[in-house]
Amino acid sequence: MTMLKWSKNSWRDFPAAQQPDYPDMQKLNSTLDDIGALPPLVFSGEIEKLKAEIADAGMGKKFLLQGGDCAERFIDCNSPSIINKIKILLQMSVLLTHGMHHPVVRIGRIAGQYAKPRSNPMETIGGVELPSYKGDNINGIEPALGARIPDPERMRKSYFYSAATLNFVRAMIDGGYADLHHPYTWNLYSIEKSPRWPEYKRRVDSLLDSIRFMETFGGLNSESLGRIEFYTSHEGLLLGYEEAMTRKSPLNDKYYNFGAHMLWIGERTRQIDGAHVEYFRGIANPVGVKIGPKITPDELVELVRKLNPSNEPGKVTLISRMGASKIEAGLPPLIGAVNKAGLCVTWSCDPMHGNTISVGEGGDAYKTRDFNAILDELSKAFGVHRTAGSILSGVHFELTGDDVTECIGGSQELTHTDLGKNYETYVDPRLNYHQALEMAFLITSVMRDA
Ligand code: PEP
Ligand code: CO
Repeated sequence: MTMLKWSKNSWRDFPAAQQPDYPDMQKLNSTLDDIGALPPLVFSGEIEKLKAEIADAGMGKKFLLQGGDCAERFIDCNSPSIINKIKILLQMSVLLTHGMHHPVVRIGRIAGQYAKPRSNPMETIGGVELPSYKGDNINGIEPALGARIPDPERMRKSYFYSAATLNFVRAMIDGGYADLHHPYTWNLYSIEKSPRWPEYKRRVDSLLDSIRFMETFGGLNSESLGRIEFYTSHEGLLLGYEEAMTRKSPLNDKYYNFGAHMLWIGERTRQIDGAHVEYFRGIANPVGVKIGPKITPDELVELVRKLNPSNEPGKVTLISRMGASKIEAGLPPLIGAVNKAGLCVTWSCDPMHGNTISVGEGGDAYKTRDFNAILDELSKAFGVHRTAGSILSGVHFELTGDDVTECIGGSQELTHTDLGKNYETYVDPRLNYHQALEMAFLITSVMRDA
């Protein structure tokens, strides 16, 4: 099949899943024109650097930690919430670097993770059927018809919220927040209750010892300890917005999406002849693809070839999200097909989206995920890759730095009856601070045992 010429709007000739129906097309088009004239949020050199780091991860030299909210909310664009998100990701990355003896590449689901695909176009709230909430850059969470009508103005807002978030993240990192000389507090109090606490404590002590050792001997000066990279990512769902953020770089004539360093295609929008794959095949950013248990090996090979015809290392990250009970049967044929076709990909595992369950009934019903199922999928992912002779190079989590009660299990032993205490997420349940930190301790153990 010959492929037609790509342009940043060629996706418009293909069926686009999960796009909102805007009632006012004129307002939509003028808003997108305005956004298209606003400055980039990231720089092409940063995007290329991340692509090179993802390529290194694919060869086993680095490890990817991608994480953040399922859906960012405009109301969380504030100092404590952003600080807490950066803090948990940095602490997890320090633990992973120490435990895996590999540098960790940090990629936030942040500064743009506003659009959500939904399995059903309608949802029932308090007995009333309404169009589903689709993310703060599309419609409002309030359970009223007026709020649920897609409003293009929300895309302009999301650009500015993304810019404000990213500006603060860059300021924190450049200003020394990530500097291990200023140890941001490690809240270990709930993990102290875990039966594994003696092991965790040994790890933290040894980590702090190594930092002190490096400082004493000047092996790593304060500058190299302090400077870190932090990248942004979001699901590239809302194609009008993504097109508006896409421009040709005058430096190398390539097209980049300047709204994030990395973007991914979701499980619901990865149709081979669909608009999302068409859009993504033309941009130079590294691209993730979520792959669930329904994808076939042939489909996956075709998809990777279409997204990365030149087989460029670091371009495609395959993020499996099979579910703990399906990964051992589902993943090996996919790895086998990718290897047989000689495709260069970086493998990551999202142990969240295949393990979502519903507990309780009526007003007491919650979507949740069990800490043990999440860990189980990860542990199996390491094993499956090892057996297949490939490398699991990264993990992808929905998490927050706050003390929410959305996932069950972990050292706080949260159960179904705790979920109502602080269930904040607008869409999927996230690991809270303690669960995310404990997960980072456990990843290195399950990796070693696999
Ligand atoms: C997500 O990452 O929030 C998501 C919707 O994932 P998936 O496409 O894998 O279902
Ligand atoms: Co989600």
